Amino acid sequence: MDDVDTCLGIDIGGTGIKGAPVDTAAGRLLHERVRQLTPHPSEPEAVLDVVRDIVARFSWRGPVGITFPGVVFGGITRTAANVDKGWVDLDARKLFSESLHLPVTVVNDADAAGIAEMRCGVGQGRTGTVLLLTFGTGIGSALFRDGVLVPNTEFGHLELNGHEAEHHASGNVREEHNLSWEHWAHRVQRYLQHLEMLFSPDLFVIGGGVSKKADKFLPHIKHVRAEIVPASLHNDAGIVGAALAARTECGDALLPQSQQAP
Ligand code: BGC
Repeated sequence: MDDVDTCLGIDIGGTGIKGAPVDTAAGRLLHERVRQLTPHPSEPEAVLDVVRDIVARFSWRGPVGITFPGVVFGGITRTAANVDKGWVDLDARKLFSESLHLPVTVVNDADAAGIAEMRCGVGQGRTGTVLLLTFGTGIGSALFRDGVLVPNTEFGHLELNGHEAEHHASGNVREEHNLSWEHWAHRVQRYLQHLEMLFSPDLFVIGGGVSKKADKFLPHIKHVRAEIVPASLHNDAGIVGAALAARTECGDALLPQSQQAP
């Protein structure tokens, strides 16, 4: 296999950090992923130690794509809703690449998952307006128009019923408040209706850990016009998307220039 086709993808989340080498042509993991808990506090140096460990576990010497659960602009992490505030305005690409001595691309976690689903999952060949949402620690969003990403949309912070949407309808809220799938699905439905009113998407893709449990909540979501499908890469979407973003060729196709690998 051509080296260009293999990148290490690392998905930094508020709860766990996962990584694996990815065949970016096929969009699949080449090894079973490794997962470690996100350190608390999740300061940059502590997260860097975990990333370094994942790179070492695979004896990795090629390009690395890393997701981050906040706004990422030109490799700089701008916000940190669910991780330590030390990430705000940090040159994360520089931190990772100088420490690992490898070329690094950093992208928003939901944007990465969206890139993976559009390229290799349920979004393949889909035109029009596609909105992928990840329901995990927070709510992430990735908006595509005719297959091109509008990065850093941050729709998890829209207001819903007087709360930030991610404080009302994330995957973690369902678990922490012990909500039934049906109760949670009604909150998600309200959220989708709100997004539908604003963006009229053709397709919603529901990602994050809950995508594996689609049969438990999708049947309760009835009053949304757009088609709704669960993501097909499930929890691997972030890893695959990070690796795809690291591969410049894919970056050219899916990411605006400000987000591409150097
Ligand atoms: C962050 C987003 C992220 C989402 C999912 C939100 O709190 O602001 O950038 O995509 O959580 O991790």
